[in-house]
Amino acid sequence: MLKSVILAAGKGTRMKSETPKVLHKIFNKTLLGYVIDAVNNTGLADENYVIVGHQAENVTKFVSDNYNNAKTVLQSPQLGTGHAVSMVLPYLNDFNGEIVILCGDTPLITSDTIKEFVQFHKDNNSDLTVMSAIYNNPTNYGRIIRNSKGTLDGIVEEKDASSEQKQIKEINAGIYCLNWQKVKPAFSELKTNNAQGEYYLTDIIKWGNSNGLNVNAFILKNNEEIFGINSKANLAEASSILNKKVIKKHLDNGVTIIDPNTTWIDPETKIEPDTVIYPSTYIEGKNIIGKNCKIGPFAHLRGDVIVDDEVKIGNFVEVKKATIKSHTNACHLSYIGDSVIGNNVNIGAGTITANYNPLTKVKSQTIISDNVKVGSNSVLVAPVKIEEGANIGALSVITKDIPSWSLALTRSPLKIIDGWVKKFLSK
Ligand code: UD1
Ligand code: CA
Repeated sequence: MLKSVILAAGKGTRMKSETPKVLHKIFNKTLLGYVIDAVNNTGLADENYVIVGHQAENVTKFVSDNYNNAKTVLQSPQLGTGHAVSMVLPYLNDFNGEIVILCGDTPLITSDTIKEFVQFHKDNNSDLTVMSAIYNNPTNYGRIIRNSKGTLDGIVEEKDASSEQKQIKEINAGIYCLNWQKVKPAFSELKTNNAQGEYYLTDIIKWGNSNGLNVNAFILKNNEEIFGINSKANLAEASSILNKKVIKKHLDNGVTIIDPNTTWIDPETKIEPDTVIYPSTYIEGKNIIGKNCKIGPFAHLRGDVIVDDEVKIGNFVEVKKATIKSHTNACHLSYIGDSVIGNNVNIGAGTITANYNPLTKVKSQTIISDNVKVGSNSVLVAPVKIEEGANIGALSVITKDIPSWSLALTRSPLKIIDGWVKKFLSK
């Protein structure tokens, strides 16, 4: 089993935000969450060390609330990427295995690439492997320096590079795999004699070469995976890259998506073939959508939504934490939250499940059995149960359980006053 070290202590000044950079989100998951999940999903790592510094408390809380195999280690002050990794020395003195180092602000890295990278490291009997990529515009990245035989010599940071070195298009992706016991001594020998006066992690390459280690570079195929987030523009671009990838996967699997440009689907949502997703639909979180469903246009699924086959969720319908069985329709202007809805149910336009009591802050469940018909503009005040086949008259406010096959309505009686308009106008 290997361990990961994820660098997340930096300030992220260019985000212009009070939120620490790695806690910004794509869909509902933080950037750091994407990186930890990518490592965990390889099945290769048993423990992750997240280096925290800027707003350490918030980042630590996120990690401890969400991951039981991740620890945070404080780096204060932040003296560079090499210094950041050295923070794990006291914890891993005797660890005899591989360490993979990643950055908390590259959320698009995939488990498959991490696996391939570690396999490359093993296949080459490497002691130290760095991930590189070929960029047409390599500005700001560390450049990979190779000698005349093409083997890896070292990494030079943009700020330390000669104009000749700046022409190099092979860049340091910032992901490393180390034979820990062999590379560990490097961290007590790093110097700060560089343009930024920092302890550079990149200097371990030169150190490895001069200490007789087997040092290699793995060239990444898909550059998008190491897209780093430094600004809100980068965040928007990364979201769009991820979304395009998810949409393509669903299209390849037989889901119809009318307008990929206005459709957003969280990577954790599953959709069965022949379902149609209409334009301007936003699907976030973990959801499961069955076959032959129609979702949207302008639908919003907010997570934990399980939809069986042949279900319609139409215009301006928001659904959260709900199970909806087959052949049920909620076609217009509704909110369905914390609900379980049976088969063949019709949810009329404008129906609201009132699941939240803002005074007690308690959320409650609405349970609707098979064949129920809910009339338009009804409010179902949870907790409430509508038993099989019951019919709710339009505009009703339902505050009690409704027995099966009954009609429930709270509508005030319709009054008709003959000739009223004419009388009014003649005054
Ligand atoms: C680093 C690499 C560069 C590479 C680039 C890839 C070094 C010296 N340079 O440059 O070769 O091309 O990443 O994106 O490593 N961090 C800490 N503590 C610190 C400093 C940084 O945790 O003291 C974290 C940051 O939060 C960030 C990561 O390390 O997640 C990278 O730091 P950053 O300052 O962005 O390095 P770059 O200049 O981009
Ligand atoms: Ca960076």
